[in-house]
Amino acid sequence: MKLETRPQTTSATASESWDGQERFEDHPGIDLWKVIGDRRAIRYFLPYRPVERWKIEMMFQAGHRSSRAINGSFIKTVAVERDSLDPETLEALKTPTNTADLEMAPLYLFTYADRLAPLGGPVRLKDLYDRGAFAPALGWSHEFIDKVVDQTILTPLAKTEADAIWISSVEAAQAIAHMLLAATALGLGTCCKSFVADAIKERLKVPDHCVPIWMILVGYPAENPQAGGQRPRPPLEDDYFWGNFETPFEPTSSVTEELKRRRLLQPTAPYPWRDAEIRHIARAFGLPEE
Ligand SMILES: Cc1cc2nc3c(=O)[nH]c(=O)nc-3n(C[C@H](O)[C@H](O)[C@H](O)COP(=O)(O)O)c2cc1C
Repeated sequence: MKLETRPQTTSATASESWDGQERFEDHPGIDLWKVIGDRRAIRYFLPYRPVERWKIEMMFQAGHRSSRAINGSFIKTVAVERDSLDPETLEALKTPTNTADLEMAPLYLFTYADRLAPLGGPVRLKDLYDRGAFAPALGWSHEFIDKVVDQTILTPLAKTEADAIWISSVEAAQAIAHMLLAATALGLGTCCKSFVADAIKERLKVPDHCVPIWMILVGYPAENPQAGGQRPRPPLEDDYFWGNFETPFEPTSSVTEELKRRRLLQPTAPYPWRDAEIRHIARAFGLPEE
């Protein structure tokens, strides 16, 4: 199967004449909250329905917009169609938690963190300075970037393997989160998965300085996109605090109600029909029911 490369045609849109000023449509309000609320780890995909190239491009553009230390290029992502891989490679990619769902998803995004990305820092920071993102008022200058930021922070960071991998992975995760939300907004299902990196390293021509992060399964959900309800989280106050670790950040009923209205907060799994849905899908795909 070939990726659809035909350009998408659109009629002249407002974006062509956009002057950079915010408009009402920049804040549709409910959508961001609902997209965050709608996202699920999807584990059943329509194996026969490919993902359109333009949707992949939108996901990549969303990932590319994520916030990033030193405006660096930390994440590298390779899109691979399942059907372009031979059965042996497919099998070799599997881990104990990445099994039949890997066979169902038509598209894989392999993500890597570039641990040399901190080295490009000074050039990118100076560019940001020249564009007015930093200013002398906050202590920034080209000299400050070279003498302080590069010499005392970035160069040591790139030299210490654990630190370089740590920062690269954090940055990569931010881009991954954007891609997952963009996919949800486009009606796609996703699931981050561990994978056997050596099984695909040569084929993808992965440079040695790139560290495998996750593979993202992408496709149209074969289950209801609500996937039986939102997955539970511990109480907010277990993970979020005010001032110090001993002062839990207590949620309020008014905000909770508003977030339910915006669909960020949705009923927690399992919906009453979830068990029947899982059995039905298992039968449809010839997978074990128990
Ligand atoms: C970074 C990351 C790695 C994950 N790795 C796996 C995995 O290897 N196998 C798997 O079945 N699910 C994996 N998941 C999916 C999580 O189990 C899932 O996100 C979690 O159950 C919460 O469900 P939700 O994403 O629908 O809220 C991963 C999720 C993330 C964010």
